[in-house]
Amino acid sequence: MELAKAVQSEQLLYKQIYHYVVNQIERKEWKTHDKLPSVRSLATQFNVHRLTVLKAYQLLKKEGKIYVKDKSGYYVQPQITKDYEYSENPIIAAYTQKNHLSEIHRAPVTYNFSQALIDPNLLPNHFFSDYVKKVFDLYPKVLATYSTVQGDEELRELLAEYFVKQFKTHLTKDHLLITSGSQQAIHLISETFIKPGDIVLFERPSYSAAIDIFQAQGARIMTVDIYENGYDLEQLENMLKQYKPRLFYTNPTFHNPTGYTISVEQRKRLVELAEQYRCLIVEDDAYHDMYYEQPPPLPIYTYDTAGTVIYVRSFCKYISPGLRVATIISQPSTMPMLLTSKSLIDNGSPLLNQKIFLHYFSSLRLHQHLEKLRIALQIRKEMMEEELAKTNWKWSSPQGGLSLWVQLPDNLSIKSLLSKSLHHSISFVPGVVCDPLKQESRWIRLSFSYENEKKLKDGMKQFVELAQRLEEENNLNR
Ligand SMILES: Cc1ncc(COP(=O)(O)O)c(C=O)c1O
Repeated sequence: MELAKAVQSEQLLYKQIYHYVVNQIERKEWKTHDKLPSVRSLATQFNVHRLTVLKAYQLLKKEGKIYVKDKSGYYVQPQITKDYEYSENPIIAAYTQKNHLSEIHRAPVTYNFSQALIDPNLLPNHFFSDYVKKVFDLYPKVLATYSTVQGDEELRELLAEYFVKQFKTHLTKDHLLITSGSQQAIHLISETFIKPGDIVLFERPSYSAAIDIFQAQGARIMTVDIYENGYDLEQLENMLKQYKPRLFYTNPTFHNPTGYTISVEQRKRLVELAEQYRCLIVEDDAYHDMYYEQPPPLPIYTYDTAGTVIYVRSFCKYISPGLRVATIISQPSTMPMLLTSKSLIDNGSPLLNQKIFLHYFSSLRLHQHLEKLRIALQIRKEMMEEELAKTNWKWSSPQGGLSLWVQLPDNLSIKSLLSKSLHHSISFVPGVVCDPLKQESRWIRLSFSYENEKKLKDGMKQFVELAQRLEEENNLNR
């Protein structure tokens, strides 16, 4: 058992080094024909055995990403960028970034199972026109001024009251920073706290855009696996102890993409460990209110007494993605740093959006909307599961969120399935996109929240049939 664990951990380490090198090359930190660090120096940097680095270098060489010069070392292979969208212009190339998920979303499809977004018909669109009018009556100069950088005071007061009630914890408007969506919050946090080369710990799998954001900031990504019943706490502690990550980005409630929720016990332990190893926790709680029956456990943030957790809460998904209203909650000690970044990014989120949101959020309509929405989401989830039940695929049914994380059988190539599905105007997210280590896996994410019930059923029927045909073809060709 110990040996198996050691082998597994060695596997993980060499893959992490492999991805670190690929990332450095993709970001043009190391350019064509640049010499790579010696095996010895990388081994010291990562605190691993030299053989582990050598194994990563051999794989990179085999894949044609690097080449070796006798008695000199390893170098970046010229054709490395051929799979990527980098410009030949070195000035532009330095600024080119990847967003793996948005590349899938760009494909226009009839049956969209790739976007973890709520069907616009389920959102309270028509009420907003009333609020637009009201906002212009109440604040006639709303478009003639900036919001404060930290966010509209009236909105922060309202949200602080809401969180105090919901979380039974002390906080005031001064703990809140309004951002344009939680994606911007993650971006701000990464800019504020991470410098190139810092280690950031991620759950594996994780929210793809967050991985891309931290990677673009130059972070070295390390991972801890997330299972249906949470983390392997021993693995988590080892990672914290060995690598001393600067920050752990976690999405512990109806986790994207798996739908898993971390238990109260693990939440408490996580805070203890983070304090012990001086690691900042960034808790992304984008799906908190999207439970079907029982509310989820309180956020990790509520167990923190030492200012170790920065909490990110979005209201975009279930109120209005277009208003882009989310908030960061952090200790007043970290707020000035975040405010500086926010002022540099946009000088404050649009005041009009904040005021419209404020008036909707304080109305009784929100509560009614959420009650109805939860039922609609549960029905769609069950419809998708009904179609999946006709297969031998595996998934665990989440208690909240917008997606199912589905394991496909070995004889089904996910790449072929994706290209066939897109050809038939059906989209899904292949698991590799959500893997911080970007390894092929047997998993896919299917979101049930975007398409209406009829399209969901039709699309899933077609998708399952298509996959089964592909499986049969594969079996015949074996
Ligand atoms: C875990 C998670 N965090 C953050 C976001 C970004 O949401 P927004 O920027 O709309 O608040 C998403 C969107 O899919 C998500 O799944």
